[in-house]
Amino acid sequence: MPEKREPFLRVTWTDPVTGRKGYVVIDRLIDGIAGGGTRMRAGLTMEEVERLARTMSIKNGAVRLPSGGAKGGVDIDPHDPEARALLTRFVRAMRPLLETWWATAEDMGTTQELLNEVFQEVGMRASVEASLNHSGDADAALARLAKGLSTKVGGIGMGDLVGGYGVAAAAAAAVAHRGGRLTGMRASVQGFGAMGGSTARYLNEQGVKVVAIADVKGTVANPDGLDVERLLATRTALGDIERAELGSSDRQLEREAWLAADAEILVPAAVADAITDQNAGEVRASFVVEAANIPTTEAAQAALRDRGVTVVPDFVANGGTNAWFWWVLLGRVDPAPEPSFAMISETISRTVRDLLSISDREGVTPRQAAEKVAEANLDELEREFAVAT
Ligand SMILES: NC(=O)c1ccc[n+]([C@@H]2O[C@H](COP(=O)([O-])OP(=O)(O)OC[C@H]3O[C@@H](n4cnc5c(N)ncnc54)[C@H](O)[C@@H]3O)[C@@H](O)[C@H]2O)c1
Repeated sequence: MPEKREPFLRVTWTDPVTGRKGYVVIDRLIDGIAGGGTRMRAGLTMEEVERLARTMSIKNGAVRLPSGGAKGGVDIDPHDPEARALLTRFVRAMRPLLETWWATAEDMGTTQELLNEVFQEVGMRASVEASLNHSGDADAALARLAKGLSTKVGGIGMGDLVGGYGVAAAAAAAVAHRGGRLTGMRASVQGFGAMGGSTARYLNEQGVKVVAIADVKGTVANPDGLDVERLLATRTALGDIERAELGSSDRQLEREAWLAADAEILVPAAVADAITDQNAGEVRASFVVEAANIPTTEAAQAALRDRGVTVVPDFVANGGTNAWFWWVLLGRVDPAPEPSFAMISETISRTVRDLLSISDREGVTPRQAAEKVAEANLDELEREFAVAT
């Protein structure tokens, strides 16, 4: 782990009504701003908030987001009848931070709907008020985001495409780093929602045969490649595959069959802990590209590494969505598909190349290497913005 640095700011708040505590940690500011969720949990501590704020910096740094990491929260059970009123008092008290340095969103124990209501109640436009103010022109920032979100490519909105575009770019960079080419390879994907669906599309577009896809009901497979676009056009809003649309040579297998599919690339894009030390031995792929959050347990990562399988960590591979929202809001990319995809591809490919070089050279896991790259990116961004301002 890189040397420990003190966070930029720690705030402890005591609710005047209940005596309960609330916390905010801004791990670091990049260009005067930081982002991270607001959680509600009985037993929340300053230590937990500080660790999560740090993790947010690393996640942001990995995809070169022009924002540091932060986190906040209140120590109360979200089901407590007092919870909503307490959250409102907390937001009111933190308003000076929320208007300037700290852009927040839903997190454990809160929903974006709840935050939207509470922020409106205290007279603020959005939980990302800080980034709206930071953009220089809040109306223009919101208009850019609306434009981006309303743009569709092949029937799917950009908000549901940018994530998978990044995952496919991560796969291409990892394969190239090992001296191979995506074209002609085969992939198996768990999940056919926003992430799984778009990853399958963009792998397919790069000449990869998608030979297996799992949804919550089971795996569909075809060693010659599934018709991804047909399945995308007919899937349900929840990402369920329409079985009636399967081709005559497609097969229906049990739900976990995706894991052991005969494919070079495995993309877990559904649930956490999908690959464990119990089932890692069944993996036949040489690359695991994590589209879901924490889909590979630590023990499984170690087991796969010992077998020479490259695991591209979630916070790099799946960082395209978060990065794109921020870039668009801050006016750092045109929300149209071409420039957006180009920026995601360039950013994620570069990070994957760098992290795999460090992993090879220093014998650390790709995840540990990614943390190093993220730190270096944050330092570079900090310097870039120090010069620019
Ligand atoms: N949407 C994003 O932009 C984004 C960004 C970063 C990370 N993630 C992470 O990616 C994962 C998927 O998110 P999403 O937005 O694509 O979700 P989603 O709800 O759009 O789709 C989920 C898909 O997974 C399938 N699924 C659920 N349980 C399953 C199981 N046990 N086995 C096989 N398939 C199963 C569903 O049928 C569906 O096809 C989550 O871990 C999420 O946190 C999403």
